[in-house]
Amino acid sequence: MKKLGVLTSGGDSPGMNAAVRAVVRTAAFHGIEVVGIQRGYDGLIEGEFEYLVPGSVANILQRGGTVLKSMRSKGFMSFEGRQKAYTNLMNEKIEGLVVIGGDGTFTGANVFNSEFDFPIVGLPGTIDNDLVGTDYTIGYDTALNTVIDAVDKIRDTADSHNRLFVVEVMGKDAGFIALRAGIGCGAEAILYPESEEDRLEPLIRRMNSEHKRKKLSNIVIVAEGAKEGNAQSVGDVLKEKCPGYDIRVVVLGHIQRGGSPTCMERVRASQMGVEAVKSLMDGRKGEMIGIVNDDICYTPFTKAIKNQEKINQNLLQMIDILSI
Ligand code: F6P
Repeated sequence: MKKLGVLTSGGDSPGMNAAVRAVVRTAAFHGIEVVGIQRGYDGLIEGEFEYLVPGSVANILQRGGTVLKSMRSKGFMSFEGRQKAYTNLMNEKIEGLVVIGGDGTFTGANVFNSEFDFPIVGLPGTIDNDLVGTDYTIGYDTALNTVIDAVDKIRDTADSHNRLFVVEVMGKDAGFIALRAGIGCGAEAILYPESEEDRLEPLIRRMNSEHKRKKLSNIVIVAEGAKEGNAQSVGDVLKEKCPGYDIRVVVLGHIQRGGSPTCMERVRASQMGVEAVKSLMDGRKGEMIGIVNDDICYTPFTKAIKNQEKINQNLLQMIDILSI
């Protein structure tokens, strides 16, 4: 392999830059040229290419966001768009591609692989942690720490005023941020999209139970796509059905996607970036590189995006136990 391309796609996540840096420097180490593709698959279609050398990725390890920019591409959903992308890759003599993103990114890569038999490997870049085949996606750890930091601050004011705060975290389809952030901030309860049962009614009963210890502050974490509704609607129901509580709603929003990546994020993103180059050199394709039990592992795109990653019931139960 003489030349490879790298792009970031979908929602950005802290640690993407660390992964790009690792790809560029590992490739250079092995004498391979790297083309940085701007704005995800859209940049691939438009031919927005820039050659990257080790110096191009200096001082990005610690930065959030992605220097390559990111997009959710509509163009790549059409065969015409993908054909244009393929022509650009051929014209530039790019022999392999590293795509960093989430399920949408890998869905596109998988279709492209099957249509053009072009070598693509993926790195899991999303704060949602919702991909099968890796314990942690790039961005998840930093997002969790951002949530914890924000909720600790909310806790201070909640405690001063004896209030209940309903805090919305990201996760349209996945409750992994809600789950671990909920444990990390000592939440009263979490509500999340994958739940099979209504968790709001039992919460209301608990809150109103006369046996309930009178807590000075309460935090309820709601994933944005929770089965019971978003934080605002959950807050409205709680205000109506738990009149004994003074309730406020906070939506954390996109602050969860920014910020400097944690140390573990940088280390894992670097490990995966190094492996991405090696795997293309070994002739691998159509797979996501992940880390399971601290070891690198490969998962076909088709399996990684199946949305089968399940909420850990033991962790979930801990929230009930620890919030009595
Ligand atoms: O997939 C990452 C994510 O941050 C989700 O948690 C969230 O639902 C979505 O992206 C938000 O997307 P956008 O930035 O396009 O509003």
